[in-house]
Amino acid sequence: MKKILVTGGAGFIGSHTVVELHAAGFDPVIVDNLSNSSVSVLDGLQKITGKNFTFYQEDCNSEYALNSIFEKEGNIEGVIHFAADKAVGESVLFPLKYYRNNVGSLVTLLTAMQKYGVRDLVFSSSCTVYGEPDQLPVTELSPVKPANSPYGFTKQVCEQAITDFCAADKDFSAALLRYFNPIGAHPSALIGELPIGAPNNLVPFITQTAAGLRDQLTVYGNDYNTPDGTCIRDYIHVVDLAKAHVSSLNALFSSASQGATVLNVGTGKGNSVLEVIHTFEEVTGQKLNYKLGPKRPGDVEKVYADPARIKEILGWDARLTLADALRDAWKWQCSLR
Ligand code: NAD
Ligand code: WQD
Repeated sequence: MKKILVTGGAGFIGSHTVVELHAAGFDPVIVDNLSNSSVSVLDGLQKITGKNFTFYQEDCNSEYALNSIFEKEGNIEGVIHFAADKAVGESVLFPLKYYRNNVGSLVTLLTAMQKYGVRDLVFSSSCTVYGEPDQLPVTELSPVKPANSPYGFTKQVCEQAITDFCAADKDFSAALLRYFNPIGAHPSALIGELPIGAPNNLVPFITQTAAGLRDQLTVYGNDYNTPDGTCIRDYIHVVDLAKAHVSSLNALFSSASQGATVLNVGTGKGNSVLEVIHTFEEVTGQKLNYKLGPKRPGDVEKVYADPARIKEILGWDARLTLADALRDAWKWQCSLR
């Protein structure tokens, strides 16, 4: 059973990936400083899988902590690096926090991996690297645009650092997964997204509004150049996304991939904000209190993936629908009452 270090494994995408790693016969070891998650996630993981996963409450910026974990565990064979800060607006206000936590932790991790001879990495990147694309859908060859936030730039820098590291050490390989918009929750409703304070992202704002925790959702802009005037995104169920990490690791271990491989992880379908709202209302029977409001500065008009490359290389594709994801997100929200 291959032991996999999962940094940020108590977080939204990390926790769902731990479940899928376990289901696929891997042995996940979690390191998380709980800066944006709760220790209660471990209970949810235990209930879903029947397993108490090894958990280190440590900071990935600590060389000492990471070295100690690699030494204590002894035989870690691969790493999935989720640990990062992810709030775009916050990154504009506190850029150094983002350069330190997102870029700094990656460099510390790569250094420890090199020291302990661990050569396979899956990295959480983002479709934010494409900015406002010139052509849709975006392929991995679509240009990376100048970042419009320090957060976005940290993803570009991390991708480059990993690519350079792979070029310098031919034994090292990595999958750079560019996630589109992850939403939903585990169908058991035992784990899901736990935003701290008012959510920045659309779907948790929708579920919290429907649950009465927020008064009203504002749709940011309805005069975009899209069929209904609202922005278009590629919303991917977090369980499908989690499975893409398992497929990536399997490919890295089979030596099928060499160097750093960039992969889009999306469904290939674009949905507008109003389509998301109406699908939510249909699948949950809830009437959502929303209003049309001004554009949010920095928003991309439309972006969705061409997922052909990940299908070809990993045999992965998204199986779950927008309706599935919204139903599961609502079930999760209801479980928090
Ligand atoms: P999340 O905040 O739920 O999970 C990140 C986890 O990392 C949290 O549990 C947090 O406590 C932990 N963490 C942060 N800094 C740490 C550190 N220095 N040491 C140890 N643990 C640390 O976020 P998520 O949505 O699960 O995102 C996971 C990754 O995917 C991030 O790298 C994020 O940038 C990337 N990503 C997320 C999205 C999205 O919309 N959710 C989209 C694209 C990319
Ligand atoms: C989706 C759509 C909003 C909230 C962000 C990051 C990106 C990536 C994913 C990490 C947009 C609209 C939202 C609301 C709204 N994260 N919206 N009312 O902006 O596509 O991407 O998360 O890498 O880097 O920027 O996601 O969920 O915030 O917004 O109308 O209250 O919903 O305008 O069109 P976004 P989001």
